[in-house]
Amino acid sequence: MIKVGVLGAKGRMGSLVGQTVRAQADLDLAAEVDVGDSREALTGCDVVVDFTSPAAVMENLAWCVQAGLNVVIGTSGFDEARISEARALVDAAKDFSSVPPEQHVRVLVAPNFSVGAVLMMRFAEQAARFFDSAEVVELHHAAKVDAPSGTAARTAAMIASARAAAGLGHGPDATTTQLAGARGAVVDGVHVHSVRLAGLVAHQEVLLGGHGETLTIRHDSLDRASFMPGVLIAVRGIAALPPGLTVGLEGLLGLA
Ligand SMILES: NC(=O)c1ccc[n+]([C@@H]2O[C@H](COP(=O)([O-])OP(=O)(O)OC[C@H]3O[C@@H](n4cnc5c(N)ncnc54)[C@H](O)[C@@H]3O)[C@@H](O)[C@H]2O)c1
Repeated sequence: MIKVGVLGAKGRMGSLVGQTVRAQADLDLAAEVDVGDSREALTGCDVVVDFTSPAAVMENLAWCVQAGLNVVIGTSGFDEARISEARALVDAAKDFSSVPPEQHVRVLVAPNFSVGAVLMMRFAEQAARFFDSAEVVELHHAAKVDAPSGTAARTAAMIASARAAAGLGHGPDATTTQLAGARGAVVDGVHVHSVRLAGLVAHQEVLLGGHGETLTIRHDSLDRASFMPGVLIAVRGIAALPPGLTVGLEGLLGLA
């Protein structure tokens, strides 16, 4: 039985994680913690899942790694600077030199737990070097506070690095005059367009264009349930990851 704790247990994602964990025969929902609850309830968990807020997650992470707990993080806001900060926190938390490797702390930060979204990013990365142009359009519900989405920014970075590795520069673009924002945000040279629309959940298209052809890779999260298979893979797989910080679900999906 894997003992699972949830941070942000009363939130939209945290409550669904709790419900999902409860339904698994091999998992035990050992602690549910939200604002106002003591984190001490997490002591003894094999893994803690954090779906809180960008403002709260680093303090939670610091507490968990000091307590020697493995952590799966879904909370957004992990840009390069925050990933470095998290890595330093995890590496400095404790001296594990005298304990066996299976007892070292593992932390997995996954910007997107949807298996389809992870595959969409991977396919975009693979396709990027074959086309002159690549742009990303992400579409989300109107309550989303950040733009572009972390997934879109990561997709753009992956496309940019695949193009750079193939010796390709920016795509052709003759725009000389434009309204501010008309060409979207630019992440590592890749244009990213954000749509916010009531009724949507989380969607993304990667548009690739070349000689007389285009390729569109589209992913749609239609329900928060789409994140749960990935969360379960992370919860069950974290003990097999190397000690320290891992970013992305790719390794556990055999895509690394
Ligand atoms: N990685 C992914 O695949 C994925 C998918 C969906 C959402 N998210 C991210 O997950 C996070 C949570 O999303 P949500 O929609 O569930 O938000 P939410 O606002 O519904 O829930 C957040 C919960 O965290 C609680 N909380 C805040 N600070 C806390 C603290 N210090 N300790 C314990 N609990 C605390 C809040 O009270 C709330 O109940 C967001 O950052 C969101 O962007 C990630």
